[in-house]
Formats: sequence, structure tokens, C-alpha cells
Amino acid sequence: MDRDDVPYLDATLPTAMRVADLLGRMTLPEKIGQMMQLDSREDLDDHVLRKHVGSILHTSPERVLRAHDLTARTRLQVPLLIAEDCIHGHSFHEGATIFPTQLGMAATWDPSLVEQVARVTAVEAAATGVHWTFSPVLCIARDLRWGRVDETFGEDPVLIGELAAAMVRGYQGDGLTDETAILATAKHFAGYSETQGGRDASEADLSRRKLRSWFLPPFERVAKEGCATFMLGYQTTDGVPITVNSWLLDEVLRGEWGYQGTLITDWDNVGRMVWEQKLQPDYAHAAAAAVKAGNDMIMTTPQFFEGALQAVEEGLLDEKDLDQAVSRILTLKFDLGLFENPRRPDLGRQQVVIGHEDHVALNLQVARRSLVLLRNEGVLPLGKGKIAVVGPLADDAQTQLGDWAGSSGQADWLPDGQPRDMITTVLDGLRELSSQEVTYARGADILTLEPDPEGETFPDGQPRPRIVQPCPPDAALIAEAVATAEAADYVVAVVGDRIELVGEGRSTATLDLIGGQIALLDALAETGKPMIVVLLASKPLVLPESARNAAALLWVANPGMRGGRAIAELLHGLIEPSGRLPISFAAHAGQQPTYYNQIRGQHGSRYADLTQEPAFAFGEGLSYTTVEYGDLHVETAVLRPDETVRASITLANTGSRPARETVQVYVSDAVTSVSWADKELKTFKQVDLEPGESAKVSLELPVSACTIVDQHGRRVVEPGEFVLLVGPSSKDLRRAEFTVKPQF
Ligand code: NOJ
Repeated sequence: MDRDDVPYLDATLPTAMRVADLLGRMTLPEKIGQMMQLDSREDLDDHVLRKHVGSILHTSPERVLRAHDLTARTRLQVPLLIAEDCIHGHSFHEGATIFPTQLGMAATWDPSLVEQVARVTAVEAAATGVHWTFSPVLCIARDLRWGRVDETFGEDPVLIGELAAAMVRGYQGDGLTDETAILATAKHFAGYSETQGGRDASEADLSRRKLRSWFLPPFERVAKEGCATFMLGYQTTDGVPITVNSWLLDEVLRGEWGYQGTLITDWDNVGRMVWEQKLQPDYAHAAAAAVKAGNDMIMTTPQFFEGALQAVEEGLLDEKDLDQAVSRILTLKFDLGLFENPRRPDLGRQQVVIGHEDHVALNLQVARRSLVLLRNEGVLPLGKGKIAVVGPLADDAQTQLGDWAGSSGQADWLPDGQPRDMITTVLDGLRELSSQEVTYARGADILTLEPDPEGETFPDGQPRPRIVQPCPPDAALIAEAVATAEAADYVVAVVGDRIELVGEGRSTATLDLIGGQIALLDALAETGKPMIVVLLASKPLVLPESARNAAALLWVANPGMRGGRAIAELLHGLIEPSGRLPISFAAHAGQQPTYYNQIRGQHGSRYADLTQEPAFAFGEGLSYTTVEYGDLHVETAVLRPDETVRASITLANTGSRPARETVQVYVSDAVTSVSWADKELKTFKQVDLEPGESAKVSLELPVSACTIVDQHGRRVVEPGEFVLLVGPSSKDLRRAEFTVKPQF
């Protein structure tokens, strides 16, 4: 092709003109294909040469090169968008920096750190030819049984919104023309996490008002931040799959928020309407419905190709109906400059940036900040005595990385996971940093797997997870662990969950430590040795008494490649614990839900056989020092809706170690026209205090943030009495009242 004669290849022309020119040259099959994203592990030749796909995902370094070569053989040579779930680092690229999971990152409560993680991820991913990541997750985790809690930023919409916006900024860098920028995806729009009984992708029973109240605000936040793409959740809400929910897509997202970005379905959402949800009789109808609802990119529904062709043939769809979606996708490709430079993998750049020492240092920093100390009866920092490291997760390198990393199952080209020598386990970390003797015993097994009698795959060909069988306690392993503990001065017990209990389609009915782990902890507690429980768990678990009463308890989520080092530093007192819970821990699975911002009003406040109190509440976390909060002072107690609440509180570090304190600011609206949460996080601030130091912390909160969503679905400030609540966690708060006058 002579580039000069072809307007769409002329980089000097405005994008709209190039898009129109290219669109005018495309056949119907080429347009349909442009709307499709298929799995590159399948028949790549067919995807590119016959179906003319616009995008591929889950591609190995070899297959991405092959995909580009195939594209060069196509008539119009429209570059591919290469997509991957780089959700806490460049998950499936060997040697990439794998950070703590999103839930672990959330425990830092630090948007600037999260932004840096996303930037580094983008730099590494872009060098390997990835243009698009399916991150961040903005789902609100409210049922701990759900298998994807680890992928979220926890349970609070404000914290989620702040961290997600930071992540979007990090991925998209200086804008799409920047070669190190990758497209971010806000997912899963919206309400996907509101499951029935924690069961993945079940109907989300949500009213529009509830969506507007808590589930939509983080998405609105990132839409305004310029997040390039949105992914639509799998589930139905009020009977309608999100994929075809015109209220959410047209009225709210495109209409009210004016969102101009690109929409992608989740995995086979279009097919699921046929074979799973049974809402469409065939693929022609499903394809027509999806196009008409405004979806731009259809993820992994190969039958969309024939389905859409048939839909046009049968008059269910007009060829023109495809033009808007195809134009949006082409616009993205032009904006990224892919027609001039398809951003192929760059080996030279990869050698420089993948796993760069600065990235490793950032990873360690994030891991340090993500650790949440939940209990410390004075045993930490450790003294000089001998340390027994015990537990099935003390030296399990790949489990430490969590889901969407290395060998977690979504990619088949890294069967053994990320290189072992890049990962510091807790055992490695303690051996590296301890001057005293460190011994080790595994102590327990967790689980084995059995095939699912319903078959190896789902109807769409996707693998069906195998069934977990908890291992029984092993007397010999326990005896060895007890002997190791008895010969030491401290026991560090590393327990938690494994990848087989985490992820899509892997929700859990219980929140227990499974296999031989409880018996192990009980036996270790019996020894009377001070026990430090390191809970390496993707999500909050329900802990046995032996763990709850241990000398210390540290939750570390899945802390990434440098997690073991960070944990060892914390245990030895080389760093200060500063993580705070982004999500509450239940005391029993039957208490679900345990999130802090529940709607007030119920008979009583407890179960007959148990309190409703979580084991640990949102925002909790200890330091090695004590920080005392003085009285909360509001400067002006009567304000108009357009004013700002200004308040101050004095913090004093009364201990002998430095503190990084996360000052949390909540609001309670005294009387509301509709039922509402008793308190809600509005903002937070991190303050560093040296031992003995006091500081007056000034806080500002626009009254316009003190809203509820009224019965008509409008977000409003209702004048009247409010309480400002400030403190170190959602359950330990100082109070000061203020009044909002009506605006005249
Ligand atoms: C399905 C998951 O729900 C989604 O989060 C992910 O991005 C896609 N698969 C692609 O892997």
C-alpha cells in the first residue's frame, strides 16, 4: 500500500478523518471482527486472518510476535490491541515485578504509592507489547466468601475511588501517545461483587438507588479521571445483564457522566446470555442485543462473528449499527499511534526495564506498607532468641504472589510460575535478616484437588476448577513442628489460603483456615512459646482462638515478590507497621456481611449466639508505638452547603518508636430522609510522628461531600445535624457536631 494515497495511513490528518476513511473501506466481516477480542492461546491464524479480530488477550511473548506478523498479511493491516490482566504487576511475563495484590495495596491507604505501582507496571508491560490492562478493579467487597475479594481495594467506596484513580493515572501516564502508557480498565461495571452467598457472578440484587449510593461513585471518579475503558460485569441486575443494561450504559455512563471511552464486555458475556443466563435464543440475537446496547469490544465470544453476520442477514441488526463501536476502537488505535508504530515487543527495552532494581525497591516499599499488625502482646519486635518458622505457607513462593500471577492458572506459558530466585518467602526473609538461629518445619498440608464430576470444562470450553479436598491434620508433621517450636524461643507460624481457594468460580462456603492448619496452630499454642501468626491470606479469614489469642497477629494479604523480606523486617523491628485494614474481618462466616458502613435500623444489634462485631474492623491496624488522639475541634459549627468543614485534632506519639498514622475522617448524618449508613469514610490523611512528637492535624471536608442519595436517586446534602468522626479506625473515633443550614 502506498501510504501517501491512503488517508487513514496519513498521520498528519485528524483522527476523525482517518477513522471515517478506514471505516468506509471495511467490509461487514472486517467490522464485526474489529469489535472482537479473542484468546491468543487458540487458533491465532483463524482469529486474525478469517475473523479479522481487533484485539487479542492472554498472549505469550512468542504469540504476540506471530499475531503482528499475521496482521501484516491482512488487507487493511489494522493493528491489533494487545490486552492482558496486568493487575498487580505484569502478571504473566517471566521476571516481571509482581507487587502485592490490589487488596494488599489498599492496606497502604496511599494513593501515591499505588500510582507508582501502576506506572512501573505500565513501563514493564508496554515494553513487552501490551497496550491494555484490565485493571483496576472497583468492585466493593461485601461478602468475604466471594473468591475475588483479593482483586478489590476492599469495602469502602471512597478508599476504592481514591486508589483506583491513582492507578488509572499511573497506567495512562502522560497520555496515550506516551509509549510507556497502557490503557486502564475500570471493572467490573457495576455491582458484580454484590453476589448471592458469595457465589461468583450470581444475580446482583441491587436497586438503582443502592447502585448510585455506593457502587457507582468509584466508577464515576475514574470516568472523570479519564480512564480509557470500562469492562462490563458478568452478572444480571434486576433481571438484566449489565452487557445490555441501557439504564446503566446509556443513561448513567454515557449520559449523565458523559463518558466517551470504550466499553468491553467481560469474558463471553454475550455467549453467556445464550448458554448460561438463557436470555437470548441464539448468538444472532445475543450479538444484536450487545451491539445495540453500545458495547464496543466483545471479549472471547468467538460465535459473535457468525452471530453478528447472521443478525445483519436476518435484519436484527443494520451494518450501520456497528459503525459507532468500530469507530471507537479505531479511535483508540489512532490515539495510541498504533498505525505508525504498533508498539511491538521491544527486547532491548525489556532488558532494561523488566524487574529493574528501582521496581524491586518500590515493590519492597509497597509490601512493607501493606502489612497490617492486628495484635501484639509485646512480643514484637522480636528479641534475640531462636526462631522456629512453621507453617505450609512459610516457604511457598508462588502462593505468596496470589492470583493473576505466574502459575495462577490464567496463562499456560509459565507453568512453574515466576522465577523462584526473584521471590523472598517469609522463611527466606527471616534467614536473610536474623542474626539468631532460624529453624523450619512445614507442620501441615492444606488441600488436594479432585476432578469435578460435572466435567473438566464449562459449556464454553473454559476449564472448570477442580474441587478442593482439605487435607486432614498430619500427626507426624505436627509433632515435628511442635518439636521445632519447643527448641526455639519464638514461633512464627505462616498460615492462610492457597490459589485453589481464590479467584473466579472459587468462592468459599467457609472462611476457615483449612487442612491441617488449625490443628497445627492449636498444637503450637499448647507449647506455650510466644507465637506470631503471619496470616498470608488473599482475603480476611475467620481465625481459630489459637490464632486470635496468639502473641501477635499480622495479616499480609498476598504480599508479592518481596513480601517475605518486608515481613521479616517488620518482625525484627527494622520498619514500623503502618498498614490499615481496607476491609473488615468477620468473627464467623455466618456474620456476613461485616462491612462497617451498613444501613442503620434492625431489631437488636446481635445474633442470639454471637455478636455482630467483626473480629477486626475496617481501618484497624497497630503500630509499634501508641498514638493518642486529643479532642476534635470544629472551627465553625454552622455551615452552608457550599462551605467547608474545617476541623483539627492533636495527635501525640506517646511511645518510643516513630509512627505513620492514618487519620480517618468519617461523617454521620443524624437524620436522613431515606435509610442510610451510620457513618461513612469521607477522607483520610497520613501523618508521620517521631517518638514523643505531637502534631495538630488540620482537616478539611467540603459540606458538598456529606451527601446521601434520596428516594428519587438524587445525590443531595440534606441540611441538619451531622457528626464529624475522626480517629485511627472505623471503630475508634472522636466526635464533633456541625450543622448544615439550608442554602437560600
Ligand atoms: C474474566 C475476569 O472476570 C476479568 O476480570 C478479566 O479481566 C477477564 N476474564 C480477562 O482475563
